[in-house]
Amino acid sequence: MERQKHFLPQDFPALKNDSFLRAAQGQKTHYVPVWCMRQAGRYLPEFQETRAGQDFFLTCRTPEICCELTLQPLRRFPLDAAIIFSDILVIPQALGMEVTMVPGKGPLFPEPLKEVEDLLRLRKKVDVNVELGYVFSAITLTRHRLEGSVPLIGFSGAPWTLMTYMIEGSGSSTMSKAKRWLYQHVDASHRLLRLLTDVIVDYMVGQVKAGAQALQVFESHAGCLGPAQFAEFSLPYLREISRKVKEQLKNESLEPVPMIVFAKDGHYALEDLSRSDYDVVGLDWTISPLTAREQTGNRVALQGNMDPCALYAPKERIGEIVKKMIEEFGTQGYIANLGHGLYPDIDPEHVGAFVEAVHKHSRNLKEQTWTGHLENSL
Ligand code: CP3
Repeated sequence: MERQKHFLPQDFPALKNDSFLRAAQGQKTHYVPVWCMRQAGRYLPEFQETRAGQDFFLTCRTPEICCELTLQPLRRFPLDAAIIFSDILVIPQALGMEVTMVPGKGPLFPEPLKEVEDLLRLRKKVDVNVELGYVFSAITLTRHRLEGSVPLIGFSGAPWTLMTYMIEGSGSSTMSKAKRWLYQHVDASHRLLRLLTDVIVDYMVGQVKAGAQALQVFESHAGCLGPAQFAEFSLPYLREISRKVKEQLKNESLEPVPMIVFAKDGHYALEDLSRSDYDVVGLDWTISPLTAREQTGNRVALQGNMDPCALYAPKERIGEIVKKMIEEFGTQGYIANLGHGLYPDIDPEHVGAFVEAVHKHSRNLKEQTWTGHLENSL
């Protein structure tokens, strides 16, 4: 009985560090908050030890372990947010597809979608509480165990990125199988993207009900779409997700949570993304902070975007890169992060140096918005 109580999404401990949530909502912060994509990952020896020999998706289905893996990086580094340990591919599983994680290789769908008829294999309606309740339990448990130290981020893959995996069946450098659908099976592509969007909306609302305090949508495969295809097959669905999640939270009298959209290699779409009802736009390292600010104005906060490979540099050099990054973004409306996830061979000490440098340099700089920053440097 006592144990059960911990899983209930209520009476969460009060939040002590709200700098991430404030920055995400464009409110003033005294320093730049920081977290890292894939902060719970194989670069940590304790992660390897906890995961050792266990099936990846079984781990995802075990709330106690998800909670432990989520907390591990926070024990090492003064990060300003936690992200729940899970994976974007739990949604194709919820739709009835088999997905495995091949150690050292990545995800594998033994029976990917090949032809339009294969869409019939997918569930038409998904009850997220039944199919993805294990993620909600992990979120609720973790929210309790965080004891209010930092906010907990929930996430989902975006429709197009999930569609690529469901059709390609594994990683691909061209995405040509999935892109073939966009040219040959336009209607079926939209039917699939619609189905995914509906599940994602329910899933993200469920995550907030379970205790997630912010949500990030990963459009990791934006880069293989050009502006026209992005406008047709990604953006409308990304927009629908933010609009409907916010609407549903409102209808159910739940507090709104900041939403982040990260469209990797989608710099051609930054202006559109900044006009899409997201509070934060995540950036990869291929765009300069000044260009990103110019394209997004003061409409959204920005998150990113140090090249994860910069963490291979000596620690002093990491400090210099971080300082320049913060000077260019400004200290307000900004969340420091990497431009993509941490790689398994990155030295945890260098991750620590990154986090420390963000706090140190942003505290040293005058509080400045992007506009202030430009004026000051003229
Ligand atoms: O960020 C975090 O710390 C939270 C956990 C998280 C994972 N996956 C755990 C994971 C998050 C946010 C994801 C998102 C995810 N998963 C994305 C979007 C972000 C991105 O990288 O673009 C994508 C595309 C996936 C799909 C996926 N999962 C791939 C391609 C791989 C294999 C590549 C790799 O890094 O091994 C995974 C496996 C995976 N997901 C691992 C982790 C920690 C590593 C595998 C393991 O632990 O055995």
